[in-house]
Amino acid sequence: MVRAGKVVAIEADAWVALVYEGENKLSGAAAAIDRATGGMIRERLAAGDFKGKLREICVLYPRAGFKCRCILIAGLGKKTEFRTETVRAASAATAQKARALELKTLVFPADSGTAGLAVPELAEAVVEGAALGLYRFEAYRTQDMEESASPAQVILAVENGRSRPAVERAVERAQIVSGAVRLVRDLVSTPPGDMTPAALARVATDLASNRRALSVEVLEADRMREIGMNALLGVGCGSHEAPKFIILTYHGAAADVPPIVLVGKGVTFDSGGLSLKSYENMEGMKDDMAGGAVVLATMAAAADLSLPLNLVGLVPAAENLPGGGAYKPGDVLKSLSGRTIEVMNTDAEGRLLLADALNYAERYEPQAVIDVATLTGACVVALGPELIGLFGNDDALKARLRAAGDATGEAVWELPLWRDYDELIKSDIADFKNTGGREGGAITAALFLSKFVGPHPWAHLDIAGPVWAKKDRPIIPKGASGVGVRLLVRMLRDWPTAMP
Ligand code: BES
Ligand code: MN
Ligand code: ZN
Repeated sequence: MVRAGKVVAIEADAWVALVYEGENKLSGAAAAIDRATGGMIRERLAAGDFKGKLREICVLYPRAGFKCRCILIAGLGKKTEFRTETVRAASAATAQKARALELKTLVFPADSGTAGLAVPELAEAVVEGAALGLYRFEAYRTQDMEESASPAQVILAVENGRSRPAVERAVERAQIVSGAVRLVRDLVSTPPGDMTPAALARVATDLASNRRALSVEVLEADRMREIGMNALLGVGCGSHEAPKFIILTYHGAAADVPPIVLVGKGVTFDSGGLSLKSYENMEGMKDDMAGGAVVLATMAAAADLSLPLNLVGLVPAAENLPGGGAYKPGDVLKSLSGRTIEVMNTDAEGRLLLADALNYAERYEPQAVIDVATLTGACVVALGPELIGLFGNDDALKARLRAAGDATGEAVWELPLWRDYDELIKSDIADFKNTGGREGGAITAALFLSKFVGPHPWAHLDIAGPVWAKKDRPIIPKGASGVGVRLLVRMLRDWPTAMP
């Protein structure tokens, strides 16, 4: 919610004062709160028991006679290290503290006292930080809810009335985008017995039925057989759950504007198939549809933001199980492209269903194609638990993704499409084989995908590392992260639109 006026004029459970580490001078609303309380903030700083470190929170209880019950001083860290991400992290920490204290309303300053950020940008980061930091997945809990208190409502105090409309738009944007991230977290957290390919297709159908500019089509196995999507069918045939090919279409621009196609891996559970994973590696493989969830949620956000683009979202969805009908190491699959693939390892299933989806994307004569996938353990080894692996055939598209990564904090790091490694995915009996061995595994997987991509800019995002947070991070509570959504939405928001 946005209110005009100074923080100290708004009645609420708590006022928030943002304070840099090691700064003697308080800025903006923090200075006003300090003055109003007869120097309570300075007192804490002078005593040295609050340093202003990022995510540090200090709770003050002023004597009666104030329009707030308490004051939360929130550290921003050093001014020289300040980034937009700083605000998201500080906001998340503050909102978490407020929830723990069962505070219902929380007033944040949206003033220009905070270094280098325009007021709407600051407001957007505050709302995103709170919405993402407060996320919890509670759908399967019937008792022992940690805290029943509903999270605090954030009120943004806009000092300069003229910036209020822009702040309101920024808040709405932040709510749409964090809603999309939270949707991905829900879908990825849902147990694999419930989040089947059919369930994922239902999610897509629901998203489309609530949005005029969004339409959905789901291809069933029969149709896939007719058109020759045998790589996707191969992955799905070891399971009783039928595979689905989900197509979401968003029309936000003139019909003749070529679309951007987003492709998301939708393996709703990856047991490895007959090349069965060990139990340690199998646990957690419900998150293997995260790329697909990111694509669905990004499409919904694009529609809610009325982005002036045309988009297509493709999600090849299947369960990778070792049932009696399962595809086998040694099988050769004829993909939708007509190219044949020798299956060396049924656990390298993502690249198979993505091969068919990337080829299907050609039908739209797209201006660009971007796929998102929890594709390789090798990418996790290479880049660790926070970075998204980026591959692509087009410098401009990669630059857009890098810029979006910088703006959102969903950092991407480029790995090479090293052509000399083409050797590693040559098959003795078919056009390609589906693994290139352990070494350079993220690269050979991306190279494999590149064989099914048409003559247009393409980028591949390997999110296997950041898909699931093993411990709490500032705006990502332990669990499904939802990464990819903010990155893609940001890239799409900044996409140049052809002038009429
Ligand atoms: N879904 C996995 C990749 C993965 C691994 C995601 C760990 C998240 C965490 C993918 O289908 C897979 O199994 N990849 C294999 C490929 C190998 C058999 C060539 C892998 O990375 O081990
Ligand atoms: Mn696998
Ligand atoms: Zn997988």
